[in-house]
Formats: sequence, C-alpha cells, structure tokens
Amino acid sequence: MSFGDQLPRIVVPPPGPRSRELSADLRELEAPGVNTLPGLLAEPLQPSILWEEALGANVRDVDGNIYIDLTAGFGVAAVGHRHPRVVAAVREQAGQLLHGLGDVHAHPKRVELARRLAALAPVDDAQVFFAISGSEAVEIALKTALGATGRPGRPGIIAFAPSYHGMTLGALAVTSRPEFRDPFAAHLHAHVRRLPFGAGLDRVHEALADGEVGAVIVEPIVGREGVLIPPSGWLAGLAEACRRRGALLIADEIFTGFGRTGRLFTVDYEGVRPDILCCGKALGGGLPIAAVIARRDLFRCWETRGEARHTATFLANPLACAAALAAVAVIQEDDLPARAARLGENLGRRLATWPRRFPAVEEVRGRGLLWGIQFRTAEAAKSWMLAAWSRGVLLLAGGPEGRVAQIVPPLTIREELLEGAVGILEGIFSSLHQKDG
Ligand SMILES: Cc1ncc(COP(=O)(O)O)c(C=O)c1O
Repeated sequence: MSFGDQLPRIVVPPPGPRSRELSADLRELEAPGVNTLPGLLAEPLQPSILWEEALGANVRDVDGNIYIDLTAGFGVAAVGHRHPRVVAAVREQAGQLLHGLGDVHAHPKRVELARRLAALAPVDDAQVFFAISGSEAVEIALKTALGATGRPGRPGIIAFAPSYHGMTLGALAVTSRPEFRDPFAAHLHAHVRRLPFGAGLDRVHEALADGEVGAVIVEPIVGREGVLIPPSGWLAGLAEACRRRGALLIADEIFTGFGRTGRLFTVDYEGVRPDILCCGKALGGGLPIAAVIARRDLFRCWETRGEARHTATFLANPLACAAALAAVAVIQEDDLPARAARLGENLGRRLATWPRRFPAVEEVRGRGLLWGIQFRTAEAAKSWMLAAWSRGVLLLAGGPEGRVAQIVPPLTIREELLEGAVGILEGIFSSLHQKDG
C-alpha cells in the first residue's frame, strides 16, 4: 500500500530531531500556550510532531515518520487529507479567483455553496451565513438568536456541561470548561444558564419557565469534551421543550456534522430540525470555512440599510467555497455517513471489549466514527496517547479531566487500515501493562 493508505513507518522516535528543533523555534517565536502538547508529569509539555505532508489517512512528519491519523486533523479530514477532488477544485479555483470582496462583491461558488447547504441542512426555510471558523459560526448563531429574540428581554442562553463551542468571547460564554473561561469570566455574556449534558427534561423546562431564555445551544453528541451520547429521545425532547417555551434551538454540529456520527447531521437521528445549525471542520475538506444555517425569519434581524453588522474580510473565501463544494459532493456521492455508520459498528464491537480486557480503560463511548476511550486516570490516557504516537498512530487525549482519548479517523479510511491501527493501540496496553508490572 502506498502513502495515504499505509501502516505506520517510524524511522526515528517521534518527535524526531527536526520536529524538536522546529518546535523549539515555535516556542520562541509564537505566543506561549498555542503550541502546547500534554506530556507526562516529569515533562509537562512535550515538543510537537511537525506535519510535512498528509494524504488520505496518513501523515508524514518532518523527520520522515509516517502515521495513521486517528484525529482526522481535529475532525476536518472527513474525506481524508488532500482528497483529489478537493485538491482539483482548489487548483482550478486558484487559477481564477483567490479572494473576493467579502460582504460586498460575492462570487459564483459562494452562491452554489449557499444553495447546497440550505438544501442539505435539516432546517426549515433555510438561509446561510458564512463564517471562517467554528467559533465565528457560534458567534453568529448566538448573535442571531439574541437579535431575533433579545428584544424585549430574552437574553438568557442555556448551555450544557461539558460542552465545547469555541474560544472567542461569545463562544467561550457557552463553552463549559472553567480553565478556559475563568481568566475572562468578567467579560463573558452574563445570562448563560448551565445544565448538565443530558439533564432531565424537567430541569430543562424549569430553566426555560421564566421566559427569559431566548436560545438553547447544544452539541448533539459532545465531541472534544469527552464524546458523550445523550439518552435516546433527549434531543427530540429538548427541541420540543424549546418549541413550547419559545426558545430557539441551536445545534452545534461543527464536530458531528457531515457524516461523522453516521448520519449527515447528528440531529437527523431523532428527526430534530433545529432553528439554527452551526457547521464547520469537515465542511471545508481542509480549508477554513464554517457556516450557520438558520430559518429565514430568524436571519431577518440582520437586515440593514447600512453596512453589514457582522462580516469578515475573508468571508466565504473562493478557495474555501470551492473546496467545500468538492468535499460535500464526496461526502454525499460516496455516502460517507453510511460508511461511518457501518465501520463504526464494527469498531464499536471491538472497542466495547476494552474495559474488560484492559484495566486502564473505564468506559468506551461513541457512534459512527467518533469514539471516546475513557481511562481511569489522566496520566494513563496521556501515556497511552504518547505510546500511540511513538508507534505511528496519531490520536488525542483530553476532555475536561484529560481522561478521554478520541478515535476520529477520516470517514474514507480503508477498513483494514483502521483495524491495523486498532491492533497497534491494543498492543500498547499489553506493553504498558508489562512495564507497570
Ligand atoms: C462542537 C464544536 N464547536 C465549535 C468549535 C470551534 O471551532 P473552531 O476551532 O473552528 O473555532 C469546535 C472545535 O473543536 C467544536 O468541536
């Protein structure tokens, strides 16, 4: 098998010398805290592995090591890294127009992508608002909800814990983790009511009862913060509670959207049609683009006779729109949601044996190709992650307590390669176990 579809090949223990050198340079050149990798207790931060090339399910680092990428680049590479159709679309677009004029003069690919997203999303009478990052999409969703319901006096927002909605000030207000929020606590939207993810619907009704809550924001499956699946029927119940109390439901599908969990959107599992839906990550096939898809009547709050009241220089960038059109076409034509569901069932069966077989593992949760392995301690999760890297499997361990490792492969990964990666991961348990003993 060739690069893109091959088992790991480690030629120098990662991070290798070139990675270490460049990583040290970055530490010197960049603001601290944006290139930190969790190490172990003895060495709290460790140098990063610098990526030189990626294709399909493989990444090659600057030292020549080849990995299987079970992060899909934070969930972006749903169609795999550098999918040929995405690359061709970007090349073609690069020969015509790299940059448009944001909210002033648009370009045809933007029209095409807006049409495609409005038709695909499970949102009634949908319109689209483009963004550059997931966090910005969440900002736009919150601003839309506040604009549509905020006058007079429905400033409240319900958000859940744990949740991750991004790091900009507006998105941070609804993100749950205290270590992200605390330094900025004085500047965050003051009207956020926090409930536990999956909280009883009676508690949701109670929190909505005084009529001050304009919107509820939820990840249909919690991604980065530990891969949590809500009880069956919960999302539908949440949608119904919102409808009855006149609050808007914002589904944050930035991680879960475009097939990751086995449906095009995760709300589809329960036939939920949110008022506002955020997507990003996989949408761009590797280029930075995100979108908010919402009911037309809600977006009316943005009408203006003056200048746009939310925009950005790189709004709906032509390269990103071309890449997104290609990525979405691949996801649909190759029916990647169904593929994720099928591979996920087999993977889930194998992972379900882990808590019995490996004492370090407490619980395994997931759906489609989004899986979380919850370890008993954060240290065990980290050692396992670092051991995986050294054997050529890239994955991330994190979540609120640092105890959940995520398995998030490209949806296009060859099944045998995924099985090979899982075999490598299983091998780590026995070697760690032997070391412990
Ligand atoms: C559910 C969810 N919402 C929002 C975001 C923020 O997206 P971005 O990192 O593109 O700003 C993320 C990123 O991981 C996410 O997983």
